[in-house]
Amino acid sequence: MIIAIDGPAGSGKSTTARAVARKLGLSYLDTGAMYRAVALQFIRQGLDATDEGARDALSNLELQLAPGPDGLVVSLSGKVVTEEIRTPEVTAMASKVSQLKAVRERMVDEQRKMARQETDARRGVVLEGRDIGTVVFPNADLKVFLTADLAVRAQRRAAQMDSGEERAIRKEMDRRDHRDSTRAESPLRRAPDAVEIDTTGLDFKDQVARIVALAGERRRNNRV
Ligand code: DC
Repeated sequence: MIIAIDGPAGSGKSTTARAVARKLGLSYLDTGAMYRAVALQFIRQGLDATDEGARDALSNLELQLAPGPDGLVVSLSGKVVTEEIRTPEVTAMASKVSQLKAVRERMVDEQRKMARQETDARRGVVLEGRDIGTVVFPNADLKVFLTADLAVRAQRRAAQMDSGEERAIRKEMDRRDHRDSTRAESPLRRAPDAVEIDTTGLDFKDQVARIVALAGERRRNNRV
């Protein structure tokens, strides 16, 4: 079974996808972490977010994602970078490099490969990102599009980062949403057959329960 969860920054995708995967005994793949790791590679090599930069960054990219006790462990060139890919610098760069066609093609390829391994080995996978339901797995068994008001998303992100800079976070988030949803390559968009869940006033447990119930329905209907 393949479950696609897409949505803008701070909509609760990661926490929700992780909880859904745990409840259903599925694997979890955070595709944003992959774009973040590529962004770190650009930064480390001093490359610009251009087609040329992409060629250099991808030519020696050694990216690994493995499930760990506290979530996904991301390694770049054999070293764990799970923390490093969460800095504001990497966040901004990830939004830029994810616009590049060559980067997207390589990431989508890897995501399909990893998901296939997981569906072969286990019962399925929950993938979380921006284009999972539209591009990576247009035939996913269940597609969910999570949204929430910008103010609430910024509030959540500030709390998560233990930061008092909510206004600045909100501004940056708005800029990133705009870039992610207006880019030419695979923009952030709700797939026509995705179930939209607005998490603005929702209790976390309820939103997870709703997706788990939807997955149960699909499983019975599609026998996946
Ligand atoms: O979900 P996130 O904040 O970790 O994602 C980081 C950046 O990666 C985000 O600005 C958009 C990009 N991204 C993407 O283009 N496609 C995905 N499937 C996942 C993330």
